Amino acid sequence: MAAGLLEQGEDAFRRLFKYYKRRQPPPDLSGVLDFSRAQKNFQVLLVPLNVTSISDQDASKAGLQPVCKWKAYSLDGYPGFTFIPDPFLPGWQHYWAKQCLKTYPQKPNVCNLDLHMSPEETTDLWEQSREQLRLKAPDKREAKSLLEKLRWVTLGYHYNWETKKYSPDHYTTFPVDLAYLSEQVAAACGFQQFKAEAGILNYYHFDSSLGIHVDESEMDYSKPLLSFSFGQSAVFLLGGQKRQDPPLPMFMHSGDIMIMSGRSRLLYHAVPRIVPNLEGKAIPSCLERITARDSDSVDTSFGQSAEGDWEICAKYLQNSRVNMTVRQVLGVGQSFPVKSDSESIADSQPNSYHQDPKEENEHK
Ligand code: OGA
Ligand code: MN
Repeated sequence: MAAGLLEQGEDAFRRLFKYYKRRQPPPDLSGVLDFSRAQKNFQVLLVPLNVTSISDQDASKAGLQPVCKWKAYSLDGYPGFTFIPDPFLPGWQHYWAKQCLKTYPQKPNVCNLDLHMSPEETTDLWEQSREQLRLKAPDKREAKSLLEKLRWVTLGYHYNWETKKYSPDHYTTFPVDLAYLSEQVAAACGFQQFKAEAGILNYYHFDSSLGIHVDESEMDYSKPLLSFSFGQSAVFLLGGQKRQDPPLPMFMHSGDIMIMSGRSRLLYHAVPRIVPNLEGKAIPSCLERITARDSDSVDTSFGQSAEGDWEICAKYLQNSRVNMTVRQVLGVGQSFPVKSDSESIADSQPNSYHQDPKEENEHK
């Protein structure tokens, strides 16, 4: 398939990344693994979760179905990797999507726009963008709202993109609701003591991608990395322990949760492409808003979003994907190493994490 694209010295991961990223001709997606469709794939195994690890009531407080209703898959050859296709209760995905768009980009959390804009200019991106987004005509080339220029937000221990480190000097309270969701999911997967200490939220449009990388800045690799996706779908490439190992392409759809732990915690991975949801709807049906009255299962512990807010979120998500990754930085009893002055200076090195044709390296 992509064999003809081989360039001298290019490894298998780079080659497939380029293949799935390319515009013309578009890639053939028929070989992309889809956990949400019953596919005969010898590598995919249904794994039992401990259904008593979290109570149905605690699950519902985070907007999750009872664990007995979740499907969890592992992949032969990737121990510690778990994929849970959309375990959210109806009407709840929009809550998390709205948090990513309206709440989490707010101060004191940090976002890419803070790197070249003043705090005043980046205050309340939501309010600054909502009218512009609401009035935006589909498929028209109009000026981008600030919300559309958002590429990443960091939470808790704020990841430093230059030094690739977390620091005790740059910490703000991790959002309580997201910590709760993460800790429920981690517990259901056997990680009872997981602490949500850092988050990186990624915001993608149809022309964005995320470069090949490993998440190795955390200090305790025995803790899982959790990933939640909302909006349009992505092609995710799961590689090996070596940068050049050929990756496995898989879809991540709205509501899907992925856990990288154990021997899969430090695997290379990337997102070469965002694809329209496979239902061919403006936004996937699992994301559609239902009101509390429509459903008995909607628990209001974290509150409901106002109708007008959802209209803006839906407009944004028509051509976007939001991904939240949640990490535990420190192991039990661990603390940050004491830094020497020379280390603080020598740390800096560029990175090529977020890739966007128009706003390349927006975070720099
Ligand atoms: C990350 C990451 C993948 C995704 O934030 O480290 O790999 O699915 N995200 O967006
Ligand atoms: Mn990652």
